[in-house]
Amino acid sequence: MAHLGVNIDHVATLREARRGTEPDPVWAAVLAELGGADSITIHVREDRRHIQDRDLRILRETVHVPLNLELACEVNILQLACAALPEQATLVPEKREEITTEGGLDVLGSGPQVGDAISQLSSHGIFVSVFLDPDPRQIEASARLGAQAVELHTGQYALAEGSQQQKEWQRLSDCSKLITDLGLRLNAGHGLNYQNVGPIASLPDMYELNIGHSIVSRAVMVGMSQAVREMKEQIDKSLR
Ligand code: PXP
Repeated sequence: MAHLGVNIDHVATLREARRGTEPDPVWAAVLAELGGADSITIHVREDRRHIQDRDLRILRETVHVPLNLELACEVNILQLACAALPEQATLVPEKREEITTEGGLDVLGSGPQVGDAISQLSSHGIFVSVFLDPDPRQIEASARLGAQAVELHTGQYALAEGSQQQKEWQRLSDCSKLITDLGLRLNAGHGLNYQNVGPIASLPDMYELNIGHSIVSRAVMVGMSQAVREMKEQIDKSLR
């Protein structure tokens, strides 16, 4: 069965909406582990819009399953990763204006940047994955540069419907075979939810699925009644 990496970025997004202390992604990581998360994923973005350096520091100390750090090939963030030593680093493209990671990394068009980042992270003993669109040329280039895993970007598959979704699945399926034939670990993620995860989870040799937004969204919903009940109890208590 594929491992589940729970991305807790959006717990931090909710906290940053008030620039306060709750909800704490550290607490969310503990609960995700109790729920069976096989790894915890966070993205420290250059603009620190959700996960903060403090979160990385405490999660590094408290998470008991592998920690997967998503990061851009940027000098300060790479330094942060090499100091924190997550079990896995996933290189992603990053644009300040995007709402979420929009596409895979352009390994072929990035000059020496990606190869240098892979070497730097690997020399610190960090397992390196690269986030790629299902494009055989990008996958082969990543293997040549020493990446140990590819996380296939499932965003287009998740957005598509009907026969178009079947076409997107076929692209992912073909690329997943190429990834494992090259001896790389196969991961996937982005836009996966309770409805569309099945056909991706059942791809042969799928190692890890990184899922965030749909899990955090569902957590808000399944916890809502209890949260309201507890607040009513507090109000009720104040009258006694
Ligand atoms: N994988 C990568 C590389 C990502 O950048 C993201 C989004 O942070 C995810 C997986 C999770 O995507 P989602 O939040 O849509 O599940």
